[in-house]
Amino acid sequence: MRSALLWGSRNKWLEDQFRRRRFAQRAVQRFMPGEDAEAALTAAEALKARGMPTILTELGENLTDLQAAGGVTRDYLALLERISQRKLDTQVSIKLTQLGLDLNRDAALENLLTIVGRAGEYGNFVWVDMEDSSYVDVTLELFRKARAERPNLGLCLQSYLYRTAADLESLIPLQPAIRLVKGAYNEPPSVAYPKKADVDSQYLSLAMRLLKGDARQGTPPLGFGTHDVRLIGLIRQHAEAIGLAQDGFEAQMLYGIRREEQERLVRSGMQVRVLISFGAAWFPWYMRRLAERPANVWFVMKTMLQ
Ligand code: FDA
Repeated sequence: MRSALLWGSRNKWLEDQFRRRRFAQRAVQRFMPGEDAEAALTAAEALKARGMPTILTELGENLTDLQAAGGVTRDYLALLERISQRKLDTQVSIKLTQLGLDLNRDAALENLLTIVGRAGEYGNFVWVDMEDSSYVDVTLELFRKARAERPNLGLCLQSYLYRTAADLESLIPLQPAIRLVKGAYNEPPSVAYPKKADVDSQYLSLAMRLLKGDARQGTPPLGFGTHDVRLIGLIRQHAEAIGLAQDGFEAQMLYGIRREEQERLVRSGMQVRVLISFGAAWFPWYMRRLAERPANVWFVMKTMLQ
């Protein structure tokens, strides 16, 4: 089921069929407050009132037109301004293929630097998402270049890839901010652990590495991007055992997923930052959310019948 859904995430015909159905809009709302930036900002305000800072991301990937990538860059600049006007603790997260990476590396780097530079003027912070394994080398390369110029930039690493422990070690001298996730794409066993237990176990060992002093100096809070509360519990226990204050790290979770756990963690004294997505290009992203928990497909079917 997971592989079929991830295959479907790249199928244009399926996307066209799904998007035309009215129930699809209703189903997607579970994970996304709306398609426009205003809906995402309003949701960020509501979460702020409940003690949760946020990250906003405009959906879209693998853009095939550099002008469109320039448009996305301008969207982020406008978004950063609106975040600052509303005095939100809201960062932004971008995908390099949304900034033109498939078309021209230099242009994508330029777009990234423009966004990170503007974020710096507002005292804000930018995350670079990690896409499928064919993009890891180039993402690391552009991240290193941008990070050398701007400190307010963090990177997502995926625990399902065999290579990630070595990548993390090579990044540590930069003292970068890292968001650790399990990984959302359909990867072959030649590059990624096929078994969930191995992905989870590498997640924990990478988390332990991140909590060590040399990985943390000078960085903003580490981001553990997962809804796996068992792992979060183990990470907290370890942090406590080594005397690390709770504000040295945070859990990052997706809007609409395990809301009651998000609230519970906040009540227990942990910072939880919620990532809110918006934009019209939601299909591949939504299919990845279904693949993470195939039981979500039953929810879509129920929505179809309503
Ligand atoms: P796991 O899949 O083990 O889930 C733990 C529990 O959470 C499940 O038992 C289930 O109850 C619940 N759950 C998880 N996903 C759910 C869903 N979709 N619907 C309902 N319940 C669900 N990936 C990537 O490749 N590149 C990236 O840049 C990012 N960025 C990113 C940022 C943030 C803030 C988050 C939270 C996640 C990402 N991801 C990502 C996605 C990530 O790789 C992963 O696919 C999801 O977080 C799901 O894995 P979990 O760590 O939650 O664990």
